[in-house]
Amino acid sequence: MNPINRIITIANQKGGVGKTTTAINLATALAAIGEHVLIIDLDPQGNASTGLGIDRRDRAVSSYDLLMGTHSVQETVLPTAVPNLSIVPSTMDLLGFEMEISQQADRVFRLKRALTQIALPYSYIILDCPPSFNLLTMNAMAAAQSVLVPLQCEFFALEGLSQLLETVNQVKQTVNPGLDIQGIVLTMFDARNNLAQQVVNDVRTYLGDKVYHTLIPRNVRVSEAPSYGKPAILYDLKCAGSQAYLQLASEVIQRERRRKAA
Ligand SMILES: Nc1ncnc2c1ncn2[C@@H]1O[C@H](COP(=O)(O)OP(=O)(O)O)[C@@H](O)[C@H]1O
Ligand SMILES: [Mg+2]
Repeated sequence: MNPINRIITIANQKGGVGKTTTAINLATALAAIGEHVLIIDLDPQGNASTGLGIDRRDRAVSSYDLLMGTHSVQETVLPTAVPNLSIVPSTMDLLGFEMEISQQADRVFRLKRALTQIALPYSYIILDCPPSFNLLTMNAMAAAQSVLVPLQCEFFALEGLSQLLETVNQVKQTVNPGLDIQGIVLTMFDARNNLAQQVVNDVRTYLGDKVYHTLIPRNVRVSEAPSYGKPAILYDLKCAGSQAYLQLASEVIQRERRRKAA
């Protein structure tokens, strides 16, 4: 099996920008391309777990147990309907993590420790974060090599981004010097909306080649898929949203190859 190449955290402190949708569909697309992928759901809401069809009754152990150090990745991981894609699901237990662990000196490194204890058989690990800069997101940023930022194509897209970039910088200077931005993906693009095109232009001007070429369109099939417990790519491979996520996966892989060659 291929070794870990990359731990990518999907982060943005705003809710509803497409983090979970991107985590699920990027992970599925990477798996479809032949990578061995693990998603770790770090949001107490558990949308990534639900969206991948993991019944709440099957979440006896979860990312909470992983972070608490009582269970290993192998003990918390579940298979999904997607070949080569596994998940460590989340439960509401995660809500207690911050309070229970906030006095511990190693509180930011819980996830990193769980992921480095033994060699894991995944080439990509995708971390789905909650919509805030809490201890869960900090654990993700401390464990990851890079951050992938979904930005919704709306008027306020750039608002909050400088705070996010500043947080990544702080993490770099304190707990994780190797952290970088994998890229910024524009989500829920609606070509019929003139404002959306303006937002794309502004974001590209401001952030340059950090922004992926792939634009994720607003697509009803993408929003329907989670209610069937399926990634969009399984629910409707041909829809524009699925095709965009496949294209995004190949951009992510290309960036990894370039990084390795550099
Ligand atoms: N490309 C898209 N087209 C249509 N709906 C989308 C798309 N991406 C996300 N959504 C919907 O927008 C909502 C928020 O997305 P989600 O991925 O859960 O955001 P976050 O994890 O950042 O809170 C969800 O209902 C999701 O189904
Ligand atoms: Mg989410």
